[in-house]
Amino acid sequence: MRYRRSRCLTCYWRDGTFVVHPYPHGTPTSLHPVAAEVLSAFEEWTGPAGAAKALEHLTPETVEEAVAVLTEAGALLAEDSPEAHHDEEIDRHWSAWAPEASFLHYATQNDYLDSEISTQDPDLMPESDLMPDPAQMPPLFTTYPDAPRHPLPRSRAGLRAPYEQVVHARRTHRDFTRDAVSLETLGTVLSTVFGPVDFIDSGHGALYRRTSPAGGSRQELDAYLGALNVTGLAPGWYHYNGLEHSLELRREGLTRDEVVDVCAGQEWAGDAAFMVVLAARLERMSVKYRTPRCYRVCLLNAGHLGQTFALTATALGLGPSQTGAFNDGLIAERCGLDNAGHTPLYVLAAGHPSPDGPNEPPPATLTTFAHTPLRASQTATSPGSV
Ligand SMILES: Cc1cc2nc3c(=O)[nH]c(=O)nc-3n(C[C@H](O)[C@H](O)[C@H](O)COP(=O)(O)O)c2cc1C
Repeated sequence: MRYRRSRCLTCYWRDGTFVVHPYPHGTPTSLHPVAAEVLSAFEEWTGPAGAAKALEHLTPETVEEAVAVLTEAGALLAEDSPEAHHDEEIDRHWSAWAPEASFLHYATQNDYLDSEISTQDPDLMPESDLMPDPAQMPPLFTTYPDAPRHPLPRSRAGLRAPYEQVVHARRTHRDFTRDAVSLETLGTVLSTVFGPVDFIDSGHGALYRRTSPAGGSRQELDAYLGALNVTGLAPGWYHYNGLEHSLELRREGLTRDEVVDVCAGQEWAGDAAFMVVLAARLERMSVKYRTPRCYRVCLLNAGHLGQTFALTATALGLGPSQTGAFNDGLIAERCGLDNAGHTPLYVLAAGHPSPDGPNEPPPATLTTFAHTPLRASQTATSPGSV
């Protein structure tokens, strides 16, 4: 029988032991680090005897034993096995993003199945067995009590635009006028998207809900503001304190160039009136939900907040944007985050939209469709032959 090293394999040290972690079928297994050397002899289909020749300093018996253990763990795959075929398929489909993204995706698949699921929890997220003493729980709200603060107006800008109109009008805007956004409008965006709507009893103390759904209502995502062009607010970096409805100064000063810089050179971002950084305070989620899949939930939560931000900004007559391309370290530094337990996930922005509209791509024409397979059975044809 010949074997090959799984293409979907990550090795690491945990608590001082070397772990071989094949995914998605294998089992993370603690092994002697020499396992890595044995695995390296199975780059292509090889029998144990052939591998033993390449591993001269190991006896054939040791190699054979290692092969048995590594096969059991799923790190070595038998030729023509269904697992080997699936491994090749995953390797092919994920090659652009491997190993980082494929490992996160597959190593966290089904991890609910190994956890006890609480039936009391509104969204059936697996809980940690040991909830800390309430005094040890991370605070619900991030606050900077010593920071200079700017209370926001309690008056709200109108959000009465019909839903049908708002949901269809929402577009990503990259062209903005130089008009400043009023503090009232900014305050309405922040309180509507990030402020508490109500408080609930979780059984382990109070939690709060926002206008967006959030896994376990942990509200691990804090909102930091990069204010560039807001009436009555000095340009700079702030934290939105949702409990107080105030802005806490993190760093004075912000320029157009700096915004472009933190948004990975995207010029349009520098024309927005403000940006909002969603930063995860991991502990607020991980103190209760211990499985690594919950990191995916943090990303999903960020998406929900992004959509509510876009719809709210649209309803207020602003043009919203969002970007996944930003300089994480620089943003963390500007917002005063340690980029360890408190780390940026998503960047949103808004400003007054250019009267010319959002500078959209042109609508698709008959010619465009002729070059686009819309269904699996259809092949693209030459222009004019639709
Ligand atoms: C998660 C996410 C990341 C995005 N990142 C960028 C980006 O880095 N730069 C950019 O110009 N647009 C970015 N966009 C905007 C998309 O290009 C835009 O949503 C898409 O073209 C569809 O247009 P629409 O939003 O007007 O429907 C992003 C959108 C999302 C949802």
